[in-house]
Amino acid sequence: MADDLNDLTDDEVSESSEALIAVHWREEGYYPPPAKFVQQANASDPAIREQFTEDKYPECFRAYADLLTWNKPWHTTLDTSNAPFWKWFVGGEINASYNCVDRHLETHPNKAALIWVPEPESDAHQAITYRELYVRVNEFAAVLKDLGLKAGDRITFHMPMVPELPIAMLAAARLGIVHSQVFAGFSGTAAGHRIADSASRVLVTMDGYYRSGDLLDHKVKADEAVEAAAKEGQEVDKVLIFRRYPGQYSAKTPLVEGRDVFVDDLLAAHKGEVVEPARLAATDPLFLMYTSGTTGRPKGCQHSIGGYLAYVAGTSKFYQDIHPDDTYWCMADIGWITGHSYIVYGPLALGTTSVIYEGTPNYPDAGRPWRVAKQLGVNIFHTSPTSIRMLRKVGPDEPAKYDFHFKHMTTVGEPIEPEVWRWYYDNVGKDEAVIVDTWWQTETGGFLGSTLPGIDPMKPGSCGPAVLGIYPVILDEDGNEVPQGSGKAGNICIRNPWPGGFQTIWGQPERFVSTYYAKYNKDPDSKDWHDWPYFAGDGAVQAADGYFRILGRVDDVINVAGHRLGTKELESAALTVPEIAEAAAVPVMDDIRGRVVEMYVSLKPGIEPTPAVAAKVTDAIVTDIGKIARPRNIWIVPDMPKTRSGKIMRRVIAATSNFTDVGDITTLANPEVVEKIRHQVQSAKLAKGEVPRELSETELNEIKSFGAE
Ligand code: WTA
Repeated sequence: MADDLNDLTDDEVSESSEALIAVHWREEGYYPPPAKFVQQANASDPAIREQFTEDKYPECFRAYADLLTWNKPWHTTLDTSNAPFWKWFVGGEINASYNCVDRHLETHPNKAALIWVPEPESDAHQAITYRELYVRVNEFAAVLKDLGLKAGDRITFHMPMVPELPIAMLAAARLGIVHSQVFAGFSGTAAGHRIADSASRVLVTMDGYYRSGDLLDHKVKADEAVEAAAKEGQEVDKVLIFRRYPGQYSAKTPLVEGRDVFVDDLLAAHKGEVVEPARLAATDPLFLMYTSGTTGRPKGCQHSIGGYLAYVAGTSKFYQDIHPDDTYWCMADIGWITGHSYIVYGPLALGTTSVIYEGTPNYPDAGRPWRVAKQLGVNIFHTSPTSIRMLRKVGPDEPAKYDFHFKHMTTVGEPIEPEVWRWYYDNVGKDEAVIVDTWWQTETGGFLGSTLPGIDPMKPGSCGPAVLGIYPVILDEDGNEVPQGSGKAGNICIRNPWPGGFQTIWGQPERFVSTYYAKYNKDPDSKDWHDWPYFAGDGAVQAADGYFRILGRVDDVINVAGHRLGTKELESAALTVPEIAEAAAVPVMDDIRGRVVEMYVSLKPGIEPTPAVAAKVTDAIVTDIGKIARPRNIWIVPDMPKTRSGKIMRRVIAATSNFTDVGDITTLANPEVVEKIRHQVQSAKLAKGEVPRELSETELNEIKSFGAE
């Protein structure tokens, strides 16, 4: 036993010190923001930074809150009495729906709030003015009210990229109903887990939507979701179904009598009805957004009304540089935090025009985004490195063929390679657009690291300095500060609370504290925010100029195409297959999607390793999580490399899948298996043409320390 413990400690010590390896990379040159951009920027005077220095904190965030219309002003900007459950704008009353809709009717009722672009290119786009948005939000709010939903209740949406999604969100927000939108690409079962976790009794979905040319049956997922939720003890009494084509049912899946209803039928009884926006406490919850962590149970990140809305409005203004007359297009999905903050709440709070696109960016070809940009006159464009890599690969010369001009572009969700950044800058931005590389998380509500686009020079591959009012620090495993310019990586933390930060994990307050604060908190009784650095779970380096380079997750989360997948979620899905004894998920570097997942499984005694068993594992993952989690390969191995205490050494199999050095294996209980697995996996990969490429130092470090936690 003592032997086992020593063994475990040894592994952990050597692995955690690996998280702090010196990182060397070529220093990239600076790009100054184009003069034309600077002239019109919302923030062009560097003095703005002085308004957000630490001596002015937390009152500095009044500048963001003042962008909103309040029913009642707050009396306490930041209340830390129940640390680390921070409360912002306490005493204030506000309604998010009012702020994103009603108040714009006075100034520009006939301007498009949303422009929806259906995937089939033959279908015309639809502009929804602020007045129309007001009408539709009110009518749907009337429907929700009629169902007996009230402030504080939860409602789950499993909606694709259609205008009905922001309409439903704003209708819920109008009444104080806490919405939880689940990404449409997630499976019905995944939606069901989230319904159960949030205890929602109403699910809002759509019959179908277009993806890569196919009209998908989405309603079928509602049936799976309701069943999965019921297994966890949560009954869903109503499934509200929007119709992709009004008056016509686009799914094959039959309706369930008494439970399933078409929204257009319900709306008929509420034509023109107006629902007063509820006066809600700024500290009340606005929505839950589920994300993956290190356990199998997703975390429902709870965001507040006042703090969140202030933060996304402020960052949309200064970092997205949104002006009311801009046409802004963020290609993210509203099912992720990026869409909540920077398609719906931030842009609409500022009264701009936000474009929503239904389908895949390269449908029917790689010129599609640029045609949309040209047709609609989009001047602010926002997307992920995965989309940029893909559009570059399939159509590097496409942007030049279309006459569109962006003033501003964003990249978000994963690190971007300098080479990819430069293609984006030169070819998509045509050397006239500024780029912001925004680092942040589901938990943080809005940006944490980014250049101020009209002020700071850009540096490819670095997100830039901390954003206004955010005071980060890089800490080593012992809590010592890793100095700026030292070339050393560590754990990036945010020293202070900020208004956009999540309030708690729904139903798991102890997990909120243990995951994000326990690591560096020295006194659990302290009510002083200085004692509670927020642990972001990302590795980072800070260059001498203060710019941060984000290296990726330090936990067991795999970032696939900018989407977080927890290894435990993948593994528990694999373990639902009766033949499987053990499962481990590892990341494999991919030129387009950043990372993809590979699974290693071992079988119960007497089971034959057949392709059918592997296929079952894939199916289980797709059913439990969704297509986005589909592993590239399932490797059925004779045994997993393990420590003597039985811990699977994920870094060893990660190295195998990535053709990198497996490192020290002398502490393994079964070192002989490593070579067997290496031979099996690598020869199969080479036979399939999965040829390894040279990895960057950052990527090598990620593999070396994978699964260390
Ligand atoms: C990663 C997405 C490098 C990071 C908004 C973080 C990034 C996780 C960047 C959060 C960026 C996000 N550069 N890495 N600009 N932005 N990340 O919760 O690892 O889906 O912890 O939020 O994505 O992913 P999430």
